[in-house]
Amino acid sequence: MAKKDVFFQKMDELGLALTYADVRLRTNYSEKMPDDVLLSTLFSRRVPLKVPLVSAAMDTVTTASLAIEMASMGGLGIIHRNFSPKEQASHVATVKFHLNGVVDKPICVRDTDTIESILRRREEKGYTFHSFPVIDEAGKLVGIITKNDFEFCDDIKKTARDVMASNLLLATSRIGIDIAYGIMKKNKKKVLPVINSKGELDGMYTFKDLKRVSSPGMEQYNVDERNQLRVGAAIGVGNDALERASLLVEKRVDVLVIDTAHGDSRGVIETVKQLKGIYGDRVDVVAGNVSEAGSAERLIVAGADGIKVGQGPGSICTTRIIAGIGAPQVTAVYNCARVGMMHSVPVCADGGIQYSGDLPIAIAAGASSVMLGSMLAGTEEAPGDVVFFEGRQWKQYRGMGSVGAMEASKSSRERYGQGDVAKKSDLVPEGVEGLVPYKGSVRNVLVQYIGGLRRGMGYTGATTIEELQERTDFIRLSPAGHAESHPHDVKITKESPNYNV
Ligand code: XMP
Repeated sequence: MAKKDVFFQKMDELGLALTYADVRLRTNYSEKMPDDVLLSTLFSRRVPLKVPLVSAAMDTVTTASLAIEMASMGGLGIIHRNFSPKEQASHVATVKFHLNGVVDKPICVRDTDTIESILRRREEKGYTFHSFPVIDEAGKLVGIITKNDFEFCDDIKKTARDVMASNLLLATSRIGIDIAYGIMKKNKKKVLPVINSKGELDGMYTFKDLKRVSSPGMEQYNVDERNQLRVGAAIGVGNDALERASLLVEKRVDVLVIDTAHGDSRGVIETVKQLKGIYGDRVDVVAGNVSEAGSAERLIVAGADGIKVGQGPGSICTTRIIAGIGAPQVTAVYNCARVGMMHSVPVCADGGIQYSGDLPIAIAAGASSVMLGSMLAGTEEAPGDVVFFEGRQWKQYRGMGSVGAMEASKSSRERYGQGDVAKKSDLVPEGVEGLVPYKGSVRNVLVQYIGGLRRGMGYTGATTIEELQERTDFIRLSPAGHAESHPHDVKITKESPNYNV
């Protein structure tokens, strides 16, 4: 039996369940420096992460802009579901199109379209690009119009055929990003259309995207097989969830997250089965939230590709206080991850993270990834404005079960099983609304969290996430040990980027 199993078994015999501040990890011999440890892991069976960090599906945390930063740093963002299905799908599309290896279905114009009509359509549809392939009546590619053609066009009544370039550099198959980038650089072309044997357009490389995809640091990006950033999206249960899921899958979402306060329920289990029946291995389905081994087992048997653990640990959660349920997070993660490991289904530890030192603890308890809410709500990329209060900058952060979030969206009410409650005074909130300190960019925050995790791995001698999960041993802290762990007998005069009281 592994040392940590003995530890948790003893705690169980005492009837004790523990959370982050109750434990630390034992240090161990190490041969690698923190910067050399490997952080790659899984969010779900088929959705990898380069760092084990995922942003919470909350309306004050994850929209497209934060999800783009998360995936650019190697993690993953889960777009919240207080959006309408269409809005949520468009946020997924924004993330997917942020980096484009190859544009799969380029927006084309007809050779007979006037410049005036193309510009009007561009504005109406909100397209941010200026390069359009031009096709004829038979669907054959006959030219390209680019930004210069629009700018130098002196008469907007002219047609696309009048102004387009027709001496095209073409690729006759998907030749891969590196080759396409090389050809475009050599020929100083900003677009490289791909045509099939019938002369029809079958994709397009654009220089701007390839330059970004090929830039240094790109190897850290969490991208799919098309080199597009990965993104997840939250859904609920039942028919509404299936409809929402179909819009999200159409936009190529990487993982659907059934996001409820009580994952061990018939609605969630049925929805997992239905989604797996429809999408099979094409899209992963993560289900939650749960905090007991039996609950994780039932979701896995139903077909879940990942389990989200956490009932009440979150900074804005009042579920444990209002409903009197929920296991402290480290024990909950350990118990669910033990079941997950038997089935090779990854577990995500959701909620309750206060310090970077909590990350190695969550992973050592068995989590493959960790979900962050409050730690990201104060960033530039999270929704909402910065407010000034008591001499410093803050951002708003609220529970999805808070009165504000439940009033704002039926999805929030459904998350807490109150979808049909019409009157505000009849809502039973399970979360609060508040402010968190403004922290600058997601990048700044993640650098600290990733750095703390690396250091934790260095101290424990773990060189990979798997080693941290399998080999690490726990120590139970006494109140004196806890007090000793924090700064003491000193008045802190300068705020640290990774520590505040
Ligand atoms: P942190 O601690 O990172 O937690 O802020 C984020 C997680 O908390 C969950 N969540 C809630 N739980 N009432 C709850 O009991 C709520 O109103 C609420 N809103 C969010 C959620 O799992 C999130 O990822």
